[in-house]
Amino acid sequence: MKIKLEEKFAEQYRKNPDAVYFTPGRVNLIGEHIDYNGGLVMPCAITLGTWVAIAPNADSKFRFKSLNFEAQTEVESNRSHEKNGSLWANYPIGVINEFIKDGKQIPGLDFLYFGNIPIGSGLSSSASIEIATAYAINDYLNLGYDNLELVKIAKRVENEFIGLNSGIMDQFAVAFGEKDKAIVLDCESLKYKMVDVNLGNYVLAIINTKKPRELADSKYNERVEECQAALRLLNEEINLNNLCELTAEKFALHSHLIEDKTILDRATHVVKENDRVHLASKALNAGELQEFGRLMYASHQSLRELYEVSGKELDAVVDFCKDYDHVIGARMTGAGFGGCAIALLEKGFEEDFAKHLTDFYVGKIGYPAEIYVSEIGNGPVKL
Ligand code: GLA
Repeated sequence: MKIKLEEKFAEQYRKNPDAVYFTPGRVNLIGEHIDYNGGLVMPCAITLGTWVAIAPNADSKFRFKSLNFEAQTEVESNRSHEKNGSLWANYPIGVINEFIKDGKQIPGLDFLYFGNIPIGSGLSSSASIEIATAYAINDYLNLGYDNLELVKIAKRVENEFIGLNSGIMDQFAVAFGEKDKAIVLDCESLKYKMVDVNLGNYVLAIINTKKPRELADSKYNERVEECQAALRLLNEEINLNNLCELTAEKFALHSHLIEDKTILDRATHVVKENDRVHLASKALNAGELQEFGRLMYASHQSLRELYEVSGKELDAVVDFCKDYDHVIGARMTGAGFGGCAIALLEKGFEEDFAKHLTDFYVGKIGYPAEIYVSEIGNGPVKL
């Protein structure tokens, strides 16, 4: 891909790029919708991702081109810029704005991007393009940020510039991923450990429902607000910084404070999902994959019934997996409302699974899902 991007760069900009970088996407194994509640999550980087080629220009411009989108953007380099509708270049522009706000001088630069993460699929194409940009500029211009600072910058872009009140998981996962390891990340303290993902006789399958994530951002922000409402109510009796400070037992003692059924359901998901991640982390360490798979199914059920972020497409995939003998666990991954599910699939059954799932899914939903076997890959790198 590096060579292809270099060639396209030369075609489009009539000069060679100085450097090419890669940043992955991510899947989350378990711990969904709890990063913004101070919970424990378990994502890993994947080998799909974003490539960016970069070179300086003498015109004091930032030029953003992509092999994925027709829209190209050119802005002056010596100041920050407003968000421009739903343009893809908002992500890199937002990142550069943050560098400028922080007092950095960024000279004119030309960029060419290519990504192979299906967009809107819940595999963090947006965190990938944010970190790709931040990592590339930081390295290329020697700005001196460490990876955690880049993660925080990218999260600010998502929250304040793009307007999605997301947690830190995606940016963290794509910046800190390591081959064949999951990151067990405490989203309150940002302490983390890398755990070996040894799936033995199983592989991690990713199933893209291809359901467009319509209105997903506004529904996402609504869930964040519902959790904040739950926290305010609980804090009438106790003193919590976030919902994930509660164990299920302690939550049961105070849950009477939440009268609204929807808010209660949301908080119940958060507290129990956090407990599940602790159990899942132990199960993975002990090689108890059946237990890990059981927790995946339980997570999905909770996201479906209590958190209401699944949908008929994701449910169809997980329902199929439950009835399919060679899968031991499956769940939606990421924000939900469409996007991808993941499944622990017995090795050797990849084709059989794809065939039967496709028949089932087309029968239920009307069009095919896409199925890949995923590899767990590394974080950002200069190629
Ligand atoms: C999106 C957000 C993350 C996280 C997940 C749900 O991917 O960007 O911060 O909240 O949804 O777990």
